[in-house]
Amino acid sequence: MIIAIDGPAASGKGTLGKRLAAHYGFRHLDTGVIYRAVAKALLDGGADLTDEARAVAAARKLDPGIFGDPALKSQTVGDAASVISAYAPLREALVSFQRQFAADPPGAVLDGRDIGTVICPDADVKIFVIADPVVRARRRTLEALARGEAADEARVLADILKRDERDRNRSAAPLTQAPDAVLLDNSNLDIEGGVRAAIDIVEAVR
Ligand code: C5P
Repeated sequence: MIIAIDGPAASGKGTLGKRLAAHYGFRHLDTGVIYRAVAKALLDGGADLTDEARAVAAARKLDPGIFGDPALKSQTVGDAASVISAYAPLREALVSFQRQFAADPPGAVLDGRDIGTVICPDADVKIFVIADPVVRARRRTLEALARGEAADEARVLADILKRDERDRNRSAAPLTQAPDAVLLDNSNLDIEGGVRAAIDIVEAVR
């Protein structure tokens, strides 16, 4: 069974993905980490993010060993990931890794921007998570502060809006709700409420 979760930055899809995977005993892949890992490799190497050929080469050398690196969570890396993820050949280089992950038994939950539309168009369940940008900015700010990073809510909000705009309007695999995805509005739900809503969606199609 494959569960695809898509949605904008900080909508809560990562937490829902992790919790759904634990609930069903499935594996979980936060696909944002893949783009962040490539972005970090480029930033560490001093690369110019507009150098598409170099970005594609970095994606082909993707090292899943760094997926757990806490540095991937930073705003700078997320921003860089959003820039390079617009390159179509870079996205293509990362497709087989994601499809392989999805195919391995017993089941998988993948979250990102294009899981239900491009990576797993035949997923058994598709959930599109949204949340009010102000709520998303507040959550991201609190997370950053909890990690000991400086974070200003107004700047976080501006960054989230800029990232959404880039992710929605790019030509390669833009962020969009698949026609067969169920919408989950996470604005006024706490984590447990969101998890219950997501499980209800899965159970309705199982
Ligand atoms: O979800 P997260 O904020 O970690 O993703 C970082 C960036 O990676 C996103 O802003 C988006 O541009 C890109 N991304 C993507 N496709 C995915 C997951 C993430 O383009 N499936």
